[in-house]
Amino acid sequence: MGAHEAQAYQNPGTPEEQTRRKFLANATLALGGVIGLVVAVPCAASLIPESLIKPDTGGGTWTPLPDADMKSLAATTDNPVKISFSFKYQDAYLPSSDDTQFIWGVKLTPDQVASFQTKRPDIFAKAGGKVDYPAVTMSFVLFSSVCPHLGCRFNWDADAKKFICPCHNSQFGIQGEHLTGPAPRGLDPLPLREKNGKAEITWIQYKSQEPGRIIVAYS
Ligand code: FES
Repeated sequence: MGAHEAQAYQNPGTPEEQTRRKFLANATLALGGVIGLVVAVPCAASLIPESLIKPDTGGGTWTPLPDADMKSLAATTDNPVKISFSFKYQDAYLPSSDDTQFIWGVKLTPDQVASFQTKRPDIFAKAGGKVDYPAVTMSFVLFSSVCPHLGCRFNWDADAKKFICPCHNSQFGIQGEHLTGPAPRGLDPLPLREKNGKAEITWIQYKSQEPGRIIVAYS
């Protein structure tokens, strides 16, 4: 650094220049705060405990699923049914907002219902994967469409009879069991209930890249 540059650093400048520098410093701090908040919110939101998701007692809300889709689901055990629905999205710190999501509904055969717990130890294991609601309701299981690896949306391949994620090729069986690829766990089942003849769901978003289930947000 030359003598001239060193002198420039020591010179506080005119009052206008000092004011402008202060403004820029404050603006930089404010922007840093916004970026910090964007990074911090998902971390803080991930602290929502599973025990808070009790849709029947006020923790989370139930959203009706379309009758036509549920009829299609009830009529088939060969292929999952893609079901879209809209709801109010609730984050830990942000105001609620409208959202539309889709899930994959699967109707299990009696044999699949009987073997579900064996097939999906990741859902029933106490070490972080267990969910606080029935994973299978009336032979139906509803899988979140969010890939547990990095959050892409996977699809059902009717020829291969597998769910396949287009991003990094994680693959799952029709019961959501992890078959291959980088996903750290099987597919995430969501709460389902029947009320007055309507099927209803609670949307839960779980954290990616974790072998256990950590809630990020819910409806
Ligand atoms: S996001 Fe699905 S495999 Fe990576």
